[in-house]
Amino acid sequence: MTPTLTALPAPPDRNTILIGDAASHLATVEEASVDMALTSPPYFRLRDYGHHAQLGLEADVDEWVAALLAVARHIARTLVPTGTLWLNLGDTYATHPSQGARVKSLLLAPERLALALTGDGWILRNKIVWAKPNPVPTSVRDRLTCSYELVFILSRQPRYHFDLDAIRQPHRSHPPLSHQRPGRQRATREAWRGPNAATHHGLDALKARGYVGHPLGKNPGDVWHFAPSRGHDRHHAAFPLALAQRAIEAGCPEARCQACRRPWTRPVIRQLGHRAIRQSLRPTCQCHAPPEPGLVLDPFLGSGTTAVAAERLRRDWLGVELNPDFAAAAAQRLQQSRDEGAAA
Ligand SMILES: C[S@@+](CC[C@H](N)C(=O)[O-])C[C@H]1O[C@@H](n2cnc3c(N)ncnc32)[C@H](O)[C@@H]1O
Repeated sequence: MTPTLTALPAPPDRNTILIGDAASHLATVEEASVDMALTSPPYFRLRDYGHHAQLGLEADVDEWVAALLAVARHIARTLVPTGTLWLNLGDTYATHPSQGARVKSLLLAPERLALALTGDGWILRNKIVWAKPNPVPTSVRDRLTCSYELVFILSRQPRYHFDLDAIRQPHRSHPPLSHQRPGRQRATREAWRGPNAATHHGLDALKARGYVGHPLGKNPGDVWHFAPSRGHDRHHAAFPLALAQRAIEAGCPEARCQACRRPWTRPVIRQLGHRAIRQSLRPTCQCHAPPEPGLVLDPFLGSGTTAVAAERLRRDWLGVELNPDFAAAAAQRLQQSRDEGAAA
């Protein structure tokens, strides 16, 4: 019998919004083609996005974890080996014991998902606290207002693309005198360090030479202060554009090799006195192929924040959104952002 040949669907073009279910669309995305996934999936039972196939309204928190784990497996397949997943998540309180905890207990939904992801081969590199200076007020009287969400950074392998220099911040402090005599300082510090404590050899050396820290600025740390987004059109669960921009600057290469997809980087820092200069982009491979922009994927695109941030940073993007009304509004927002960019 002659086998039936079914043509595989062509992989989606860059810079498009795919309307429909995240897992189904991700199955059509080419393997090892995405540099970074940045997304905020529906949180457990916090919102109704008005679609029968939506994620987030599962009966219990473990079902929610399983649904997102399935999406994460597609993401893992589509990421280049040096790619990362940036996952913004919020928690909620159980309103029925069947949801996974006693009534009124925090469900620890983000932590449950993070544990499941590490059990599924992901490396959890950061748990960023996104602190909100003006959180939504609540009328509760027996607990504190929750004023943060989490952003997990996960990688597939120990070495991955991460452009820390692109997101460094100005130093605020001056080097204490004791740091100019490194021997004394190090002796007391080492005595207190446990076997898993972080080392600061690089920073100690810089401080010993009279620098307050890295000449390009300090590591922004894992507590990020951003005011929540005011929402866009009918979408009220958007993350801040500035948060998305910081994540993309660090996580998605500005360019990559068109042939092997290895990131291009700005590796060399020339120090002139206390100054440092990032050099121009160069390949990290021997292909001699031209570069193309890095690619950011958001499988839960919502109001399109990831796409707007990516375009402002000259990266390409690919988004999936289940609700066609949200997808249309995101496309409109993108056009507005392009028009503003052209007028500036
Ligand atoms: C938290 S919002 C994303 C907000 C987005 N980060 C922004 O800044 O606008 C989650 C989105 O996922 C969408 N969604 C829910 N279930 C989905 C599914 N199965 N596939 C794709 N999108 C889905 C919802 O419609 C909603 O817009």
